[in-house]
Amino acid sequence: MTDKQPSAEALSALLEAASQAAVLGGDELCRLFRQTHQIRHKGLRDLVTEADVASEQLVLQHLQRLFPRDAFLSEESFHDVPLPDQGICWVVDPLDGTTNYAHGVPVFSVSVAALQDGVPLVGVVYEPLRRWLFAAQRGGGAALNGAPLRASGTPHLAGAVVGFDWGRQPQERMDIVEYLGRISPLAGTLRNMGSAALGLAYVAAGWLDLYLHLSLNLWDSAAGVLLVQEAGGQVSHRDGVPWGPVQRSCLATNGLLHRDVLRCLAS
Ligand code: IPD
Ligand code: CA
Ligand code: CA
Repeated sequence: MTDKQPSAEALSALLEAASQAAVLGGDELCRLFRQTHQIRHKGLRDLVTEADVASEQLVLQHLQRLFPRDAFLSEESFHDVPLPDQGICWVVDPLDGTTNYAHGVPVFSVSVAALQDGVPLVGVVYEPLRRWLFAAQRGGGAALNGAPLRASGTPHLAGAVVGFDWGRQPQERMDIVEYLGRISPLAGTLRNMGSAALGLAYVAAGWLDLYLHLSLNLWDSAAGVLLVQEAGGQVSHRDGVPWGPVQRSCLATNGLLHRDVLRCLAS
């Protein structure tokens, strides 16, 4: 069943709540960052620390208090919740970049989005060490700490800064190596981020010209995808199908490069 999109006022309230929640989680990540971490392996090359859990608790508590009837999909506690047919679903990654975080690399974020019918309505990516809040509202644009964001105007791959990250499975890694083998001879340069949500936010900011990942979960991508779309960029899956919440690959570009990149990936 398809719900009517909330009014602009209702969207602003969702965005405000998402921003507050992301900052609560992010501040906790900063507080715990330089301490010794309790690291657990929850899957192949998949770490979780005490900070992932602490941040998640703060983010969810805040949102559940404000929106007790909404659904929640969140990486550590509610990761196999299906998207509901009706109403709002909050999608939370309380620490995106756990491997960076656990190793002391200061590149990580909190990602919070609200979706309806699988479509992101608001999305926030917070980079807490810099206090950078990337925020987008469907139809209302994207901003960094309140200043409007615009994807880059880079027209050719030759001048492009390409962000990407690795999946965890061997086949996903071989696939992206193959894609990078096609892109790298043509592109300006390549950057490996370690936080997919930040990779997408940086495309929205115009700092990266494109970002590619072959196997994201919805909590990694939902907020960042909306940021890119609202900043005038374009997001699809690796085959060019417009982005949706089910398929896991994600190609986000400034829009100008999208066709060339898809052609290059398929070559
Ligand atoms: C990971 C990061 C990383 C990406 C992985 C994600 P996590 O998220 O976004 O950049 O390559 O696929 O799982 O586990 O740190 O929340
Ligand atoms: Ca993540
Ligand atoms: Ca995470």
